[in-house]
Amino acid sequence: MIFWRVKPVDAILLTAERKSLHRSLGAWQLTLLGIGAIIGTGIFVLTAEAAQKAGPGMMLSFIIAGFVCAVAALCYSELSSMVPVSGSAYTYSYAVLGELIAWMVGWALVLEYAVASSAVAVGWSGYFAGLLHNSLGIEIPMALANGPYAGGLINLPAVIISLFVTGLLIVGTRESATFNAILVAVKIIALSVFILIALPALKSEHFQPFLPLGGSGAVAAAASIFFAYVGFDAVSTAAEETRNPQRNVPIGLIGSLGICTVFYLLVSAGAIGAIGAQPLTDASGAGLPPGSPALAAECQQLATAGQQPLVCSREALALVLRQIGWDRLGNLLGLAAFLALPSVILMLLFGQTRIFFVMARDGLLPDVLSRVHPRFRTPHIVTMITGAGVTLAAAFLPVGKLADISNSGTLFAFFVVSIAVMILRVKEKDRHRPFRTPGIWIVGPMAMLGCAILFIFLPTEAQLVFPVWGLIGLTFYFLYGYRRSHLALGIPTPAGGEELLAEIRPLADLGEEGANPDEAGERAAP
Ligand code: ALA
Repeated sequence: MIFWRVKPVDAILLTAERKSLHRSLGAWQLTLLGIGAIIGTGIFVLTAEAAQKAGPGMMLSFIIAGFVCAVAALCYSELSSMVPVSGSAYTYSYAVLGELIAWMVGWALVLEYAVASSAVAVGWSGYFAGLLHNSLGIEIPMALANGPYAGGLINLPAVIISLFVTGLLIVGTRESATFNAILVAVKIIALSVFILIALPALKSEHFQPFLPLGGSGAVAAAASIFFAYVGFDAVSTAAEETRNPQRNVPIGLIGSLGICTVFYLLVSAGAIGAIGAQPLTDASGAGLPPGSPALAAECQQLATAGQQPLVCSREALALVLRQIGWDRLGNLLGLAAFLALPSVILMLLFGQTRIFFVMARDGLLPDVLSRVHPRFRTPHIVTMITGAGVTLAAAFLPVGKLADISNSGTLFAFFVVSIAVMILRVKEKDRHRPFRTPGIWIVGPMAMLGCAILFIFLPTEAQLVFPVWGLIGLTFYFLYGYRRSHLALGIPTPAGGEELLAEIRPLADLGEEGANPDEAGERAAP
């Protein structure tokens, strides 16, 4: 029987009551919050990977991935409005499907958040290297700018940015509402300028053939480009701080996903139309896998011959602008990515530490992980350990592989959330739902099916990482968490943890009137 140790929703809500965050977010602020968390490496960098898998058909991939996210987001919102506490899908599953599944979801979320942080760090590194090269003429040695997958030793810029963001989180830096709004503006302006410049340069022949590697190529690209939408759960998890969540959460979710989808479609159309997006293939006509030494070698050979196709670029959008004669704007777009991507790393890494913290507080991970720094009031130990892992992965792995691995965990978590929301509709049908997923019996199964299909189309390595990671998680659970679980031992959740989590939350302060970061250090620690 796997559905053991279900944490009563009421017990979870009791913890939430202590927190009682101010309901101050409106639809517009939620939408900004979502856009801030969503736009990042996916569109700025992985456009090249998507083109390598689907060619111009990647436009379809953006639609498929956006649709799966939209239906999953609607399910997510119902649970997050009912169970408005930290820990995201992990907490929801604990309340519906029990400890074992919750543990597996929490374990999978490590892939979503931590591995995604590494992916964004590697994406940032590409823009950083390009910016140095194109605007200052400084060349980072190949061995220090790439991991072994591309003939280098270590991706040093990715290491540095990961350590930098980890340091910021340890000292308790959080992003203010204004800062988030500025970075959202930077990203939106950068993408808008790209669209305005690239679309007029569009040549219709660049869209032919539209699906060079077939329809399956487009779905495979959707499975990878799904990464470009990850982060929207920031909107669901802010449900408890939202005025009129029934109206504003869906507007925030669908609004941010919709706006990003429109941008992604226009950007990809601009990139394809301006310089073409045909994949590089081997002698048999099969597409070379992104992140593979074979593709790196082919790209190297083309670069020597003075050619740089979209699919080879580590800074895809800047490359497009430079190739159509807008060098200076290409550099400015690089600068925008350079400035904005670290905030995405910050949000993801923060999300990871928060989930580990909650799991440790439930007794499923060692207590030391929920220890709080006496001065900074942050879970510094878990942040350091997570930061070390993120840095290591960013140092040696390619962006596309990291994104695919991250997607495998995210898809699993979304799949479980979609089941959980339907089970709870049956099990606790009278419980108050600040937000009800419309048409749950259609939307829920569609979300499950969508996640399953995208998972099936992920590259085999990413699919394999997931069960191996899961097996490690299960072993750890039965050796440790199973015996130490606070729920099993009857230990109540320590008071105050939620306050700490609220303090270190970089996003939730959006629109919190009168919020003063300086006060944070004076509030009671758990
Ligand atoms: N969606 C985020 C990005 O693309 C994770 O960087």
